[in-house]
Amino acid sequence: MAKVKRIGVLTSGGDCAGLNAVIRAVTCRAVRTYGWEVYGIKDGTAGLMNRPLEYMKLGINAMGGDILRGGGTFLGTVNKGDPFNFPMPDGSRNDRSKEIADGYHELGLTAVVVVGGDGSQQIIRRICQQGDMKMIGVPKTIDNDVRYTEYAVGFTTAVNTVVEALDRLAPTAASHHRVMILEAMGRGAGHLALNAGIAGGADVILIPEIGYTIDGIVAKIREIHGEGRNHSLIVVAEGCATETGQEVTTVQSGGEVRFGGVGAYLSAELNRRMNIETRVTVLGHVQRGGVPAARDRVIASAFGVHAVDLISQGKFDRMVAWHDRGVTDVPLSSVVEGARPVDPQGPIVHTAQGLGIYIGEM
Ligand code: F6P
Repeated sequence: MAKVKRIGVLTSGGDCAGLNAVIRAVTCRAVRTYGWEVYGIKDGTAGLMNRPLEYMKLGINAMGGDILRGGGTFLGTVNKGDPFNFPMPDGSRNDRSKEIADGYHELGLTAVVVVGGDGSQQIIRRICQQGDMKMIGVPKTIDNDVRYTEYAVGFTTAVNTVVEALDRLAPTAASHHRVMILEAMGRGAGHLALNAGIAGGADVILIPEIGYTIDGIVAKIREIHGEGRNHSLIVVAEGCATETGQEVTTVQSGGEVRFGGVGAYLSAELNRRMNIETRVTVLGHVQRGGVPAARDRVIASAFGVHAVDLISQGKFDRMVAWHDRGVTDVPLSSVVEGARPVDPQGPIVHTAQGLGIYIGEM
């Protein structure tokens, strides 16, 4: 057993429900089982980059019931500002990765638990390799697109949120004989839209991994009308392009590009081609917040405990993962393979097709 004295934990990338549950599990396991000290790093890697260092010592007494139940991350997080190409106030870009490694060593950490998506984990792993730091990754993201784990923390809660929205949209769609279009998050992956669309009774589900035609959607709506139903639900993942392949994005003031607007595009196209009423709901960051679902709390807890156990065994450069109904771990090198898309030949797509949902042109 490695004689670890002090470990760090940080959250990086977009927040989601269940992050606090991971931090709590890491702290409980490290303090109670191993008698280690745990330092929560503030605002992702910024807490190690800034001087003075920004962190808080985490004790068992601070891990009361509200931590487990709370959305977001009480440590704070960032999803922009690559440390290797960091935007400086004067507009220039600097490589600030060494400052992060220096901060880690200044704090006297033996290892850091990084709760992040595939992008954050790739970047921080590189910093660890260059800066002689030890890392364990914990996958989190409402997009559920981290490879080699069936679930990332936050996904289940986000799916539930989208389903709840569809449950609310269905009766108003029926009352007004409308086509309701719901735009879901997910970045370049369709897991959230696909799972929520099936669970929420969508008639059309569009995901970035499968191309579609407006004619295909029109035909599905006409088919539904022919069956005697004059209302329908469409779920579209924000990462879907237009029919002709143009991404629908906005550029933020800092130059960051974000998806958004494909729901409005679909609405305009359907209105042009059919005599129907459409309304668009963009759920946005509602999908990221909220009280974590029980499943996310269980997964977050299992991930946190397992991450600390790996450190105790002297095993580093690994990511905890959910596989075959339990927690396991995989080499962190696997995250360099990039994000995990929906498999168009996979069982969930097959289920959607089996239900008669229009999912695009296969
Ligand atoms: O990766 C999580 C996510 O919520 C995506 O689904 C979405 O595209 C993006 O983050 C939004 O980022 P921001 O919080 O910067 O708007």
